Amino acid sequence: MPTLLHLDSSPLYGTSISRELSAAFVTQWKILQPDGRVLDRDLNATVIAPITAEWVGSVFTPEEARTPQQKELLSLSDTLLGELEQADEYVIGVPMHNFGVPSVLKLWIDQIVRVGKTFVYVDGKPKGLLVGKGVTFIIATGGIYDAQTQMASFNFVEPYLRSIFGFVGVTDATFLTAGGTMALNYGQDRAAFLTPHVQAVQKHAQGLKGGHA
Ligand SMILES: Cc1cc2nc3c(=O)[nH]c(=O)nc-3n(C[C@H](O)[C@H](O)[C@H](O)COP(=O)(O)O)c2cc1C
Repeated sequence: MPTLLHLDSSPLYGTSISRELSAAFVTQWKILQPDGRVLDRDLNATVIAPITAEWVGSVFTPEEARTPQQKELLSLSDTLLGELEQADEYVIGVPMHNFGVPSVLKLWIDQIVRVGKTFVYVDGKPKGLLVGKGVTFIIATGGIYDAQTQMASFNFVEPYLRSIFGFVGVTDATFLTAGGTMALNYGQDRAAFLTPHVQAVQKHAQGLKGGHA
């Protein structure tokens, strides 16, 4: 059964642009895959603790030697990893916060980048283990960071996500960005702003072939 993992990370819910656009992706995906399954993971409604020394110690303890307490420490990470493994396709809504990804998304990334689970070292080189997956990032930014603009070098969202997902094996990545959302605070009509972005999201979802190299 085709499975889509849908993640959101904007705290703004009803007024969030990235949430509205990732929902449009899900709607389109469901139309095209009526027998598909969607796993929803709302990172603003998931309590993820920052990494601690005990957590790191648990990761580096062989599975069969872990204490019940260590297993418990890794249980959320195991659940989140299970979601990534079950899905073939990921869609991730990302608001730009302080030129980077929101902290809840970083906390999630810290839970899913795990040696032996999502990457290994082979002959001293890292090898990602999440193969055959595709990811669509739907990013909303208050300003505009298009290539060639003066602000382009301030965009740490796209290069970081491309690198970290590539590191765990997900190299088939698409970035759809709704830039300039701050105009909505100055009277720009929300529906008019969203229309071309919804269309771009729908077109991209329609073009997904289901299956990644
Ligand atoms: C805490 C916070 C930090 C932000 N930092 C930036 C920033 O560095 N650059 C920018 O262009 N917009 C910034 N913004 C504006 C958001 O990127 C913009 O509101 C975007 O629409 C957020 O996505 P959302 O609507 O899905 O929440 C910030 C907003 C918040 C709430």
